[in-house]
Amino acid sequence: MTRLLHSSVKMPTSTSGDEAHHRREAWLQATVEITSAMLAGTGTDELWSLIASRARAASNADVALVMLPTDDPNWLTTVAAAGEGADTLLGQRVPLNGSITGLTLTGEPQLWKDWAEHTDLYPPARSWVAPFGPGMGVPMVDPEGVRLGALGVAKRRGRPNFDDLDVAMLSSFASQAVLAKQQEEHRAQAEGLRLLEERDRIARDMHDHVLQELFAAGIRLQSMAAAADAEPRAQLRQRLLETVATLDDVIGQIRMTIFGLRPSPVPYQQPGDGVRQRVLDVVRDATPSLGYAPSIHFNGPIELVDDAITGDLLAVVREALSNTARHAHATQASVDITVNGSGLTVRVCDNGRGIGDTTRRSGLRNLRVRAERHHGTFTIDSPGEGADLTWNVPLPPERAGDPV
Ligand SMILES: Nc1ncnc2c1ncn2[C@@H]1O[C@H](COP(=O)(O)OP(=O)(O)OP(=O)(O)O)[C@@H](O)[C@H]1O
Ligand SMILES: [Mg+2]
Repeated sequence: MTRLLHSSVKMPTSTSGDEAHHRREAWLQATVEITSAMLAGTGTDELWSLIASRARAASNADVALVMLPTDDPNWLTTVAAAGEGADTLLGQRVPLNGSITGLTLTGEPQLWKDWAEHTDLYPPARSWVAPFGPGMGVPMVDPEGVRLGALGVAKRRGRPNFDDLDVAMLSSFASQAVLAKQQEEHRAQAEGLRLLEERDRIARDMHDHVLQELFAAGIRLQSMAAAADAEPRAQLRQRLLETVATLDDVIGQIRMTIFGLRPSPVPYQQPGDGVRQRVLDVVRDATPSLGYAPSIHFNGPIELVDDAITGDLLAVVREALSNTARHAHATQASVDITVNGSGLTVRVCDNGRGIGDTTRRSGLRNLRVRAERHHGTFTIDSPGEGADLTWNVPLPPERAGDPV
C-alpha cells in the first residue's frame, strides 16, 4: 500500500547534536564538490552523475537518482544514477502521473519507508526498486521557482528510515546543485558562442585568403596551359614550380586557419618580412588574374601595424583585387595604404564598370566584419563607374604616426 509519509515522520529523538552536525558536514562537503566540479568546467552529463553520487554518499543511502522530464512532458527519465543497481535504473522512464517521482516533481518533498510499496503506482518499477526500502525525493527547483526535475535516494530494505532533517538537507543540496548546474550551462553557452565566432573567423579567413589564392593559382595554371606549346620548357617549368609553392602555402594557411595557430593567416611570412613586403606579395599574386600590375603606394609608418591587424589588412587587399579581377572589367587598379593620425587606411580603387546595386555581399561583407572587429569602418563608393573601397581601423596612439 502506498504511504507518503512526509509530514508524519519526525526527527528521531535519538538524533544527537553531534550526529546532526556530522550529517550537515557531509552535505556541505557534497555541495562544495559540486561547485568545484562546475568551476573546473565539468560537462553537463558528468555533473548530473556527480550530483547523484554525492547525494548518495552524503545521505548514506544505497542508491541515488536524478530524474528529468523527457521531450514528452508526461514522462520522466533517469539521467543519472549512483550506487546499487545504477546501471539498471539509468534511462528508465516513469510517468509524471502515477509515479513517486512525478509526485515529487509536482508536489512536496516525499519521504517513504518502503519504496517497493509505491511501485503499485507504476508497475514496471517494481522490479527495479525491489531491493530498496526507505527513501526520500525532493524537487530540483531553480531560483525562479521552476521545477527542473527530481532527486531521490533510497536505502536497502531493513536500514533505518530517513527523517525530516535528511529531507531538509537533500532539498538544500538539490537547490545548490541546480545553481551549479545552471552556471555550468551558462559556461557551456558561452563556449558555444565562442565556437560559433571561431567558425565565422575560419570561414572569413578561408574565403579572403585561401579561396582567392586558389582562384589566382587556377588563373596562372590556365595561362600556362594556353602558352604551353609556345613557351620555353625551362620557363614553363619555373612557373609551374612557383604555382606548386603557392599551393603549398595555401595548404599551410588552411592548417593554420583551422587549428587557429594565429589570429589570421599571414601569407608568405618569412622571418624579417615586413608588412610592406607582405602587401607586395599579395599584389604580385593578384597580378596574373588582373592582367595588369596595380599601382601601390605606402604612406606613413606602415611597419608599426602589428600582426593582428596585418592579417586583416592583407585580406582586404586580396579580396578587393580579386573582386576587381573577377567582376570589374577594369584596366587599372590602385592600392593605397596609409598610417597616420586616423589609424590605418587601405584604399583600393579600379576603373571598371562599378559595383552597382547588387544585393550579393560575400567577400565585401567579410571586409566590413574585419573592420568592425577593430572598431573601424568600411565604405564602398561606386556611383556607377569604377569602384573605390576604403577600409579604416584606428591604431593605438603609439602606432599612429603624424598626419601626412
Ligand atoms: N570591383 C568591383 N567591380 C564591379 N563589381 C564588383 C566589384 N566588387 C564587387 N562587385 C560586385 O559586388 C558583388 C559582391 O562582391 P563580394 O565580394 O561581396 O562577393 P563575390 O565576389 O561575388 O563572391 P566572393 O567574394 O565570395 O568570391 C559581386 O558579385 C559583384 O557583382
Ligand atoms: Mg568577392
